[in-house]
Amino acid sequence: MSRPYETIKTKKEQTTTWITLNRPHKLNAINATMLQELSEALDTTEKDNKVRCVIITGEGKKAFSAGADITELHKLTHKTAAELSRKGQQVFSQVETLSKPVVAAINGYALGGGLALALACDFRLASIDAELGSPEIKLGIIPAWGGTQRLAKIVGVAEAKRLIMLGDRVKAEEALKMGLVDKVVPPNKLEAETEALAQRLCEYPPAALKYAKHAINSGTQASFEYGLKKETEFFAQLFLTKETKERIESFISQRNKKEGDC
Ligand code: COA
Repeated sequence: MSRPYETIKTKKEQTTTWITLNRPHKLNAINATMLQELSEALDTTEKDNKVRCVIITGEGKKAFSAGADITELHKLTHKTAAELSRKGQQVFSQVETLSKPVVAAINGYALGGGLALALACDFRLASIDAELGSPEIKLGIIPAWGGTQRLAKIVGVAEAKRLIMLGDRVKAEEALKMGLVDKVVPPNKLEAETEALAQRLCEYPPAALKYAKHAINSGTQASFEYGLKKETEFFAQLFLTKETKERIESFISQRNKKEGDC
């Protein structure tokens, strides 16, 4: 039995497990606790032979996840930034290497680390009002949970550079054209459509699905591992710069000011 979680919810429905990121008041921003709990939930799911498919989504109507919790970034040093990068990479690699298919049901914003999590899934269904992007550059940082590698792999280098280097956000329909998501559905159909896809996957032999997934993923793995190491190195390096710290602190102080004004 899994322990009760603070930042996620899990629900088993027949042969499918739903993992829901559950900090809706913070647009499901991913903090250290959530990373750890996600990892534990994935472990539990991996060991459960009755589970044949996993769905990851976000609580509420507004966000799948708005990315890494920015309030945890401003104190990072070169060393702890590298640790955080490696931890996120490890958890999202757990998603990618899980022996069962994983579907992302993108119910709103999927930004930064939230997009990176969706990219680690095997399939991405998006609500028509979802918005996807990698705005880290605006904080003076780069995606560090596998985003630089997976985004380029999925949409190609040119689109990855547009999203990461310009911080452009794209709506679901554009994401579909880019191959960033597999299907776009009305918000009230997202759950049913995701379940239908999970159901189709559950009908196929688990071993064949596992090997298909691993074979496809392992094709680019050698350069991917190298890319992940470089991503960590560069992310940590940015925490030695003044501008990164200033941009993160400015985001936080604007929020605090907003709270004070209320
Ligand atoms: N980390 C921590 N908190 C976050 C967050 C994040 N990545 N994204 C949103 N939040 C919090 C906000 O601070 C706010 O909290 P508050 O109500 O206590 O002030 C709450 O979630 C709601 O967000 P808010 O900004 O008020 O909603 P919005 O609709 O005006 O804007 C976004 C939505 C997604 C455009 C905006 O929240 C945003 O730009 N978030 C940061 C995205 C980002 O840079 N992600 C990459 C991080 S590395």
